Amino acid sequence: MKKGLFITFEGTDGCGKSTQLGLAAKYLEEKKIDIIKTRDPGGTALGCKIREILLNYDGNVAPYCELFLYLADRAQHIEEKILPALEDGKYVLCDRYVDSTMAYQGYARGLGAEQILKLNNIVSKSLMPELTFIFDVSTEIAAQRVGDKKDRLESEAEDFHRKVKEGYLELAEKFPQRIVVIDANRSIEEVHKDVARHLETILR
Ligand SMILES: Nc1ncnc2c1ncn2[C@@H]1O[C@H](COP(=O)(O)OP(=O)(O)O)[C@@H](O)[C@H]1O
Ligand SMILES: [Mg+2]
Repeated sequence: MKKGLFITFEGTDGCGKSTQLGLAAKYLEEKKIDIIKTRDPGGTALGCKIREILLNYDGNVAPYCELFLYLADRAQHIEEKILPALEDGKYVLCDRYVDSTMAYQGYARGLGAEQILKLNNIVSKSLMPELTFIFDVSTEIAAQRVGDKKDRLESEAEDFHRKVKEGYLELAEKFPQRIVVIDANRSIEEVHKDVARHLETILR
């Protein structure tokens, strides 16, 4: 039985997910909450190998191959790490999850978000986050923050990134009960304050 809480951090590259996940973790630890930090893809040893292919393979990757590699990583991640932590009563803070797959592979690659959600439910035993932060940032600011260190997906054309951003906002409209959109064009501290305010409401 699941007793912990599953919180995910979403948004385009450079929106500040990893930065904000770290600050949220500190905030919860100060409140004596038992947490784990993890990432998708690459939250397990096997997942790291899959992540390496997904981010760095330099040949053509068929869209469904990409999708099923993400789902394969997730199946392992859920079973090996996320569910045991939740059953242990921990808060699981995860850098990306199904909303990334729906935004990138569903909207931007055109595979369809609903079909992806169905497939995700199979590999995840229908595990969905209780709370999801989407950090919404302009493409210009995100590009400045990412700089030149781009991986395979970050190197996609501008149009792809615009579709991803729009996909995320559509998801936020579809799932308003769990998704909070945060204006991530502001300073790290201002964004964190918003995150902390939402965390506080679920702690009460
Ligand atoms: N609100 C912010 N304002 C300015 N710089 C930021 C902000 N958030 C993150 N950064 C910086 O931008 C870069 C990308 O942030 P990161 O948290 O790694 O983004 P992501 O994990 O979403 O790709 C890092 O160098 C980070 O320090
Ligand atoms: Mg990151």
